[in-house]
Amino acid sequence: MRNYITTPIYYVNGEAHIGHAYTTFIADTLARHSRLLGNETYFLTGTDEHGQKIEEAAKKLDKPTQQFADEISATFKKLWDEFDISYDQFIRTTDENHKKGVQAAFLKMVEKGDIYKDFYEGNYCVSCETFFPESQLMEGGCCPDCGRATSIVKEESYFFRLSKYEKPLMEYYEAHTDFILPKSRRNEVISFVRGGLHDLSVTRTSFNWGVHLPESLNDPKHVMYVWLDALMNYVTALGYGDDEALMDFWPATTQLVGKDILRFHAIYWPAFLMSLDLPLPKHIGAHGWWTRDGEKMSKSKGNVVDPREVAKHYGVENFRYFMMREVPFGQDGDFSQRALIDRMNSDLSNDLGNLLNRVIGMSEKYSDFAIDSVNVLKYHSKEITDAHVIIDILPELFNDLQLHRYLEELWKIFTIGNKAIEEHAPWVKIKEGRVDEALATVALVANLLAKASLVLHCIMPHTTATVADALGFEITSTSYTNLIVNKELLKPFTIKKIPPLFPRVDEPLMQEAPKAMIEVAPIVIAAPKMEDKKESTVPLEGLITIDQFFQTSLKIGTVLHAQEVPKSSKLLKLQVDLGEETPRQIVAGIREYYSAESLIGTQVCVVANLKPAKLMGMLSEGMLLAAKDADGLSLIRPEKPRSVGSSIG
Ligand code: MSP
Repeated sequence: MRNYITTPIYYVNGEAHIGHAYTTFIADTLARHSRLLGNETYFLTGTDEHGQKIEEAAKKLDKPTQQFADEISATFKKLWDEFDISYDQFIRTTDENHKKGVQAAFLKMVEKGDIYKDFYEGNYCVSCETFFPESQLMEGGCCPDCGRATSIVKEESYFFRLSKYEKPLMEYYEAHTDFILPKSRRNEVISFVRGGLHDLSVTRTSFNWGVHLPESLNDPKHVMYVWLDALMNYVTALGYGDDEALMDFWPATTQLVGKDILRFHAIYWPAFLMSLDLPLPKHIGAHGWWTRDGEKMSKSKGNVVDPREVAKHYGVENFRYFMMREVPFGQDGDFSQRALIDRMNSDLSNDLGNLLNRVIGMSEKYSDFAIDSVNVLKYHSKEITDAHVIIDILPELFNDLQLHRYLEELWKIFTIGNKAIEEHAPWVKIKEGRVDEALATVALVANLLAKASLVLHCIMPHTTATVADALGFEITSTSYTNLIVNKELLKPFTIKKIPPLFPRVDEPLMQEAPKAMIEVAPIVIAAPKMEDKKESTVPLEGLITIDQFFQTSLKIGTVLHAQEVPKSSKLLKLQVDLGEETPRQIVAGIREYYSAESLIGTQVCVVANLKPAKLMGMLSEGMLLAAKDADGLSLIRPEKPRSVGSSIG
């Protein structure tokens, strides 16, 4: 089997932050996993270097645009090298063969009759490099995506017949329900396409920093729209329009993107591919956004978390583990040193690290470091079977990109090991002279650690290689086949005494933490002594029965879209996924307390069986639960993420 994994290509208008690191970590995880399973794998990342935004950023620094792009692109590459990201190719949209491929694609679209020339007049957002119809603009003509001012641009443009692909796209989404992951984001894309697709302006004459049209079209003032140029990188990297050397890797297996660029990847990109007669990628995986204190990170707010700093203080693999374990794929996550430290201490140090230390310590005492699996199945077949039950459910979680659940399940292998040590107390067995039994428990734990290392390898490659080395084997496709697929046990070996892998962390390690890194101390309230209450003091008036309560249907929903309601200072219009066929539109009076952006991807509690009503002429199909007092308003949310549509009660 062949797997092709891609990250988005990063804009070179600023250096990498933890959001970029997150996508890249996930893609690297998928690539490493694929290789370990013995699949032919190609992993692409790179930088997106054209467009007005980059041209302007370079101008501000008084640098030639190419030099500016070279410098920033190099910082991305260097960071990924420092983080040992196992990419096979780092593409740059300023690469000559990429430009050649984009031109070839443009010509093919022209031949196909999918491109025509016309005029475009519209509201253009330079920052997002996108035109927006009037109806989508926010108050004051601002961009609905980034909130910045748009300007009216009228220019001659080539158009791509996106409208032609509305139906084929809908058919594709219907037939491939796992094209968009997580599946909850599918509705969002479908409702956008159902709303009607306009043809897309795919060239610009207002700036010059981009791929020019093919010479045969004899129209030198046009450069390609950056998104057409950028999206094509996924195939030009394989030699499209050039030597086609790696085109066997197409279609991609998984293309990772942030939720903000899902529309480009789930609508425009498949339409372009259909036009080029190329197959569509198997999955587009859209992850959520990392915030600081619930706020978007931005340089102006000074709350950007530098991934290099985090890795320097906490270790890149601990950081990587934290990002994937902490946040369900698709949902937003909030970075804090405290949460990272807690994960390191509890999961890595207490569970994994401790188990390894115990097995090293016991084998040192009881068998001079020699470990033999000979009696493991005699005394511990149940534990081995239980571990394989867990291992067997991992692939499905992995394929659905539910990496937090993958890790959660995987960790149960360590619980089996720790429990076996407590229950079978090898130190007692040794005293009783039941040496075989004691050594079988030690060998059981070594085997559990070996199997867990193999399935954890894609997320913590070096750490698990160290564990494997201590356990006398190497992590390779062969050991994976033997220990995981064929369920074999370790051959006799001498365990290595290695220093603890995960020393505990007590205090935040990043000294000069940005302002947003200051954690709030928990408030501790002394609880009064608990007494058994015999008679109710609840006022009787207005009480309802439990049946009456259950007439109200309360459900968990995920906010897919949120936008300010023009001319209203109070209202936000939301689209909330309740696990129904189409998302609910809910108009809520919370604008004074929440920005639309901060709500996207978060969960809310919804009164789901209210009669639909109209607010300022807009349909509202539910109500959000919130608590309000003199200091403000807070939405009521589940403590941990729950499936959409879960009932509350
Ligand atoms: N250049 C385009 C992508 C073109 S792909 C053909 C782009 N670049 S970007 O540098 O702005 O963003 C790259 C990726 O980083 C996007 O997937 C985006 O979602 C992700 N992130 C940017 N900020 C983020 C967070 N704060 N959190 C998580 N991911 C974020 O878009």
